[in-house]
Amino acid sequence: MDSESRLPPGIQNVLDQLENSDIVSIEGVVTGIISIIGDPDATAKDLKEIIEIDPPLTARVLFLANSAYYAPKVKIVDIMQAIIFVGFDAIKELALNQKVAHIFKEDDAIGAYSMIALWKHCVATALFAKLIYRREFRERGDDAYTAGLLHDIGLIALQQFLPDDFRRILGAVADGGPSMTEAETRHLGFDHAALGEAIAGFMNFPEAMTKAIGAHHGVPASASRLTQTLILADCMTRRNNLGYGPCSGEEEKHYAACIDRLGIHEKAVQLIIADVNEEIARMEKRGLLNYEG
Ligand SMILES: [Fe+2]
Ligand SMILES: [Fe+2]
Repeated sequence: MDSESRLPPGIQNVLDQLENSDIVSIEGVVTGIISIIGDPDATAKDLKEIIEIDPPLTARVLFLANSAYYAPKVKIVDIMQAIIFVGFDAIKELALNQKVAHIFKEDDAIGAYSMIALWKHCVATALFAKLIYRREFRERGDDAYTAGLLHDIGLIALQQFLPDDFRRILGAVADGGPSMTEAETRHLGFDHAALGEAIAGFMNFPEAMTKAIGAHHGVPASASRLTQTLILADCMTRRNNLGYGPCSGEEEKHYAACIDRLGIHEKAVQLIIADVNEEIARMEKRGLLNYEG
């Protein structure tokens, strides 16, 4: 990345440790699926090839395609069959979920925080962002979904590469201390959003997504529609107690600003909330929020 030399030393230090990490191990498949999402001409064969370069992911997708959630009448034995039976979009989402979930697998609970709780927050944020795009903008929202899934990747990196600082930050946040982003900035000189943006850049994610990840605790006024949607979706998960969502303390103000800027009616918000809660409950019941590949 061109701007690497201009990054704060703390962020550069984390990027230097990324090679051979779990975080970077998802890059190939995740960027492959992102490129399929961004390509209207992409075919089922392209998706099959991306999934099949990753045997554990292939096994996991087949396992889930054969689960009671999808209930096929005949056993599904390959990815093409899964795409035909479950659907192109559903398998794309499922494979992306499972691959990204891979970096959340260590469940080290620290107070209210755990990787599983953060993962639930990220999946719910992805679902909110996608439904806002589909219902309000009449667009597919695949990139909004992906941005939601990955928006707190900086927090995963903090836990992995700066575990002592991470514990201190969580300790400071507990019991009415400063907000997460404030505590991060005080301890490290940067927050998980800035670190997430640097990681997304390092992993060559699309620019709009990279910027949205960096700005997801920022001020919505000058933000892109994707960023505003991500800010709103992130707030919605906290308002609905879906997992553990780190915050900046400015969320309620930003929530109202995003609702206003995006022109979303309260009634539509309530319908989206009901659908996301239902989908999360269904995913939890069927084990789709876990990764065991
Ligand atoms: Fe965040
Ligand atoms: Fe978040």
